[in-house]
Amino acid sequence: MEKMILNGKLVAQTEIKVDFEDRGYQFGDGIYEVIRVYNGQLFTAEEHLKRLMDSAKHIFLSVPYSASEINEQLQELVKANSLESGIIYLQITRGVSPRNHAFPNPSVDCMYIAKTKAVPRSTANADTGVNAITTEDIRWLRCDIKSLNLLGNILAKQKAAEAGCFEAIQHRDGTVTEGSSSNVSIVSGGKIITHPANNLILNGISRQVMLHLCASNDIPVEEREFTVDELMNAEEVFLTGTTIEVLPIIKIDGTVIGDGQPGQITQKLQELFSNEVERQCGVRN
Ligand code: PDD
Repeated sequence: MEKMILNGKLVAQTEIKVDFEDRGYQFGDGIYEVIRVYNGQLFTAEEHLKRLMDSAKHIFLSVPYSASEINEQLQELVKANSLESGIIYLQITRGVSPRNHAFPNPSVDCMYIAKTKAVPRSTANADTGVNAITTEDIRWLRCDIKSLNLLGNILAKQKAAEAGCFEAIQHRDGTVTEGSSSNVSIVSGGKIITHPANNLILNGISRQVMLHLCASNDIPVEEREFTVDELMNAEEVFLTGTTIEVLPIIKIDGTVIGDGQPGQITQKLQELFSNEVERQCGVRN
């Protein structure tokens, strides 16, 4: 029987029911994280849980556990479900209360759940690269918060799916922000360029891993805004994200990027990322 976490306790998945007045259900009033598990070990759990706590703070949500308590609970969950390779999905909502936009007063307990999902570490897309479209970024101005409100992201991803593409690369007035569920970087003049970590993007944990790897391997990086024009004319384009790691983009809006193959720097980063997974979790694909 698959286990989940409900408010800090391991329970059978069948015990979890969503109340129709849960604020996550009615308003998307909550936050979430997706953490990768390799070899039964959580990858970059501390970074994910720090971001979770930051997201909670930004929406004035009080979480009754510390990051390290949640970390321990998640490790127990992984063990209970004998998860080798996969993800943990964790979400915390502002709890159950009669519908009213303002926060419940007095406040109610938050609703915290976590579940695991087995996902094999696939390299098919990583080896060949994938296609993307560009689309206007219609989201709000706090994309740094990992909020349950994902309508803008969903509409962008659906547009990509309908175009037979893997990802939608979003831009605000011609400035590239990020993918619908990933960060975007380009290689131009041999240098990696990626949007600064401000309110317009989620500061991806994989993006942070990539930046550290670049710093320790003398790969030049510039955190600055870049345009759709620079994107289309880049030598290489790649995405980073928890489930995709480092994923090459070989075509955007039907235009071939570089020579239409995963680029050299992207491949180097894939290799370094695998080394980092091996270093932290003791596994390699
Ligand atoms: N998405 N930007 C957005 C909008 C995202 O939703 C994600 C991750 C990222 C990459 O962040 P990280 O490297 O921490 O996974 C960037 C997750 C995986 C999701 O929603 O399923």
